[in-house]
Amino acid sequence: MYGLVNKAIQDLVCEKFGKDKWAEIKKLSNFEDDFFIGLQPYPDSLTYSLVHNASKVLGAESNIIMEAFGEYWILYTANEGYGEMLNLAGNSLPEFLNNLDMLHNRVNNIMPELVAPQFSTRNETPNSIELEYRSKREGMTPMVIGLIRGLGKRFNIEKIQITHIQEKNETNGCHIFKIEW
Ligand code: HEM
Repeated sequence: MYGLVNKAIQDLVCEKFGKDKWAEIKKLSNFEDDFFIGLQPYPDSLTYSLVHNASKVLGAESNIIMEAFGEYWILYTANEGYGEMLNLAGNSLPEFLNNLDMLHNRVNNIMPELVAPQFSTRNETPNSIELEYRSKREGMTPMVIGLIRGLGKRFNIEKIQITHIQEKNETNGCHIFKIEW
């Protein structure tokens, strides 16, 4: 994944737990450079390793870390030069969720090696929507939950409920989340 993702993990850990904890996580993950380059692709295994070791060092389950990371990503990207892209993706939660592929397509122009997930929506009502999530990667669903929570905050939604209503398997090919507010 692009270094921007690893940088965001670093920022989240440093902000909430301090630089010493980050140094431990970085060491356990065998990452020896001083910093990540946002626009450089790194192996997915490094990102998985950072999350795994953050879980060990901080004493929190990987799922919890991934979810917190997803929520943080919405604020982080807005502050790292992608605010305009986020603005263009929509003014309401359903509109934004409908435009996620367009958003990643725009990111793809800047990051040609991006392996982006795909999203589509269905069964929209005035206070709920279902989000289909397709990815070449495994284990990212807690991040999706955190991302949706972060978007809920972005759109000042006070109470949001996210239910993972379909697990991906070989037949259906996608995870589905029901989002209610
Ligand atoms: C301007 C804002 C955003 C930027 C710059 C961005 C960029 C990225 C990047 C660089 C990756 C790593 C993939 C790779 O390097 O191959 C990624 C992955 C991902 N993005 Fe975005 N993204 C943005 C917003 C969002 C939003 C709002 C969502 C909400 C659902 C989202 C969902 C995901 C997910 C779930 C992944 C994990 C990879 C996977 O599932 O395969 N992203 N994105």
